[in-house]
Amino acid sequence: MTANDHAYREIGATTLLAPVPAVLVSCRGKDPDSRPNALAVAWCGTVCSHPPMVSISLKPSRYSCGLIRESGEFAVNLVGEEQCRTLDYCGVRSGAEEDKLAACSLSVRPARGLLCAPAVDGCPAALSCQVRQEIALGSHILFIAEVVAVSVREDLFDQDGSLHLERAGLVSYSHGVYQRLGETLGFFGYSVARPDTLRRRMEGYGRKEG
Ligand SMILES: Cc1cc2nc3c(=O)[nH]c(=O)nc-3n(C[C@H](O)[C@H](O)[C@H](O)COP(=O)(O)O)c2cc1C
Repeated sequence: MTANDHAYREIGATTLLAPVPAVLVSCRGKDPDSRPNALAVAWCGTVCSHPPMVSISLKPSRYSCGLIRESGEFAVNLVGEEQCRTLDYCGVRSGAEEDKLAACSLSVRPARGLLCAPAVDGCPAALSCQVRQEIALGSHILFIAEVVAVSVREDLFDQDGSLHLERAGLVSYSHGVYQRLGETLGFFGYSVARPDTLRRRMEGYGRKEG
């Protein structure tokens, strides 16, 4: 064994991918006056940039699954530390049994570009999504959706109009545990950035570099 060798244990074929985003997906049936619902989703991803597209993967048994199929819409609401408990609640209780939004004192707001599904008020950002494709994979149905609009909470912009999503205290999910995103380690391209750029950008994130 060389100094670079590490020991590994096989744990079987499973979905260990981590961390993943933990988001609140809000939805409503076709009737715009019907009760909206939200569920926690960890199997959510960006799948295309032009057009902007995301995917969510849902078990057909989820009450929300029927609503999304009916309206062809949903909103992906990013979750900050303040919404973490709500996220968990919406992930363990079903809208088939209760009004989860009322139980969590959550209010909804219109999601631009969508006719039925609302966005959740107070979350750092909401992506308005229109379903383009549905693929039955096995235990889950993959919804591939186009992002038709995005709204971001005003306090996450600085005076110059730059978005600081790192200030939202976003929540990630890792093997059954919620974690707040923390220290900035770098930025896109930092491994090849010029020393002065690296220093300036990292100081902006509260870190000394170089
Ligand atoms: C952190 C977390 C992540 C979850 N991710 C998913 C997911 O990606 N897909 C899914 O079908 N269910 C997921 N669930 C389970 C649903 O959120 C849960 O079954 C919820 O009660 C369904 O609500 P509904 O019946 O009102 O639609 C997750 C639950 C939690 C707590």
